[in-house]
Amino acid sequence: MKVHMLSMMVFALCCISSVFPQSPNYTIGMSQCNLGEPWRVQMNADIKNAAQAHPEIRVMFKDAQNDNLRQSAHIDEFVRAGVNLIIVSPKEAAPLTKPISDAYKKGIPVIVLDRRILGNDYTCFIGADNKKIGKAAGKWIAALLGGKGTIVELKGLMTSTPGQDRSSGFREGIKGSRCKIIFEADMKWLEPNARKEMESALSRFPQIDLVYAHNDPGAHGAYLAAKAAGREGTMKFVGIDGLPQEGRMYVKQGILAASFEYPTGGREAIETALQILGGKKAAREITLPSRVFTKDNIDKGGEALPQ
Ligand code: FRU
Repeated sequence: MKVHMLSMMVFALCCISSVFPQSPNYTIGMSQCNLGEPWRVQMNADIKNAAQAHPEIRVMFKDAQNDNLRQSAHIDEFVRAGVNLIIVSPKEAAPLTKPISDAYKKGIPVIVLDRRILGNDYTCFIGADNKKIGKAAGKWIAALLGGKGTIVELKGLMTSTPGQDRSSGFREGIKGSRCKIIFEADMKWLEPNARKEMESALSRFPQIDLVYAHNDPGAHGAYLAAKAAGREGTMKFVGIDGLPQEGRMYVKQGILAASFEYPTGGREAIETALQILGGKKAAREITLPSRVFTKDNIDKGGEALPQ
């Protein structure tokens, strides 16, 4: 009888554990600077999809809605909640450096994604090389324009590192050509700002050969402004991000001459988090590859930028 009871109990426990699969051992806090652009929605989706294959981890997402103070508070909240690891894609370098450094100094591993912070207080940085992308865009554009032309540069937030690097890289890329930047403005990564800035550029310059925007929403905003002025056919548009449902689609539609890929790093962040949580040493820096998509290569999956 006793043996029978015991086997019933073991059976019941097995049933319970198959109904309630293994509960997570680790909690990861993911601090996203905003979810306004498709690219950031994709980053969160990439993290979620990668994490789903690992029942031992649970990811808590917070969206700072493009506000540095709110993002700092989110990081502090993760620390107080006792998360095992933090993934953060910071809005701006300077304001996010201290909260990230504080978390790191308390012994919480921190993976910084896409935009950098100042100093060295983080475990691992993951992102593509923005300087290289900017330089490749500059070279590609100089060749497209036959070595000469007038360019509008619509910059990403210049207090964030991708904006700075995409700008300085671009200037290196067009060096030696007769391509001239005739108008530049910080559109802070946002399509409506890009559209407004482009309206100013259009009103000041009768001849614009090309718009180089630091992201695809910016390039699209510029295109809409030019279209409203009936001038979209007289110039070319180039952006960065290369999402299938955004930049790559614009290239297919003939709206953009090119989009340079900027991978989100979401999957790599989860892979790295698993290594760290498993006690293995992670790389300090992971540089993601990039591709350029143009109408000639879009159906063949784009072309990799040289390493
Ligand atoms: C989204 C975004 C992307 C860009 C990245 C740079 O917020 O502006 O379009 O590539 O951030 O950090």
